[in-house]
Amino acid sequence: MAQPAPPPAPLAELDGKAAFITGGASGIGLGLATACLAEGMRVVLADIRRDHLDEAVAHLDGGARVHTVELDVCDRQAFARAVDEAQRAVGNVHLLAANAGIAMSGEITLTRFADWDWGLGVLLGGVINAIQSFLPYLLEHGEGAQIVATGSTSGVLPISRAAIYNTAKAAVITLCESIREELGERNIGVSAFCPGPVATNIRETGSQRPERFRDDSGLREVEARLAQRPNSPLWMDPFECGARMLAGARANELYIFTHPEFRDGVAERFDAILASFPEEPIDAERAQAIGFLLHNPVFTETLARHRGG
Ligand code: NAI
Repeated sequence: MAQPAPPPAPLAELDGKAAFITGGASGIGLGLATACLAEGMRVVLADIRRDHLDEAVAHLDGGARVHTVELDVCDRQAFARAVDEAQRAVGNVHLLAANAGIAMSGEITLTRFADWDWGLGVLLGGVINAIQSFLPYLLEHGEGAQIVATGSTSGVLPISRAAIYNTAKAAVITLCESIREELGERNIGVSAFCPGPVATNIRETGSQRPERFRDDSGLREVEARLAQRPNSPLWMDPFECGARMLAGARANELYIFTHPEFRDGVAERFDAILASFPEEPIDAERAQAIGFLLHNPVFTETLARHRGG
């Protein structure tokens, strides 16, 4: 069977284009911003932390090519205002990086609703809000765009005792898979970024927990321990990570992985899924009737791209 041609990469040319990066003031987002500036892009850093934004501006030294917006990605009205502000500051946005995130781990027996609400609100809701807020503008300017959402390897290889984080990250990846074909037809690429451990400031999460999610949280002690955990020198440098993120987005990869160490564990998970299907003959009539459920061309395209088929 002939393989479909890989879809075009809407962001192949970076020079003079603009990026909007949530969580752009620290860690991976700052790494991405640095890579974007090096390619001649303009960047909007959107972040809830003013201190991170101020430090980032000093670090980037990008002059008028850097604009900052103080934004909570959970606040949809503020997001709408940020979209307008970005357009005024840097013109049309061509790279939307829905990257803001927090650490969220701990036993399910400790976890409370407040933890779910904050965790899913930022890690999944923040991505949804970014895409829904920007999409009309990306379609309207019609110059092509790339959406890259930060998942994690834990979205495809969930680790124990991190249910909220894993659930959100798996959903972010599924969201990207779900909209890639439709938006590809409108010259908007979609990538799921899935890094492994990166040496960032994510351990500071607990100090940022909003007041309304504190009293009913069961994970405050876990957060306090995390705050004391030093980054390992073996974790990936966030600037390397950001450069990989931009390269993958530029190539319109569906999945952007950074750590080959996770491959065998992911293969084991998929083998476990496949091994769990009933060993029964396929009902051809049923298969034909539900054919639209049985295949998604984004996977064919991704395999063709990687296997050169
Ligand atoms: P970081 O803490 O260095 O940077 C995250 C930034 O997001 C911070 O500046 C923070 O202020 C901002 N942020 C947090 N909540 C926000 C909100 N409600 N609205 C706007 N901004 C908000 O952490 P890092 O590691 O760079 O995290 C970036 C993304 O990478 C997250 O989605 C995280 O889940 C993901 N990730 C991180 C990994 C790691 O090992 N550090 C591994 C895999 C994924």
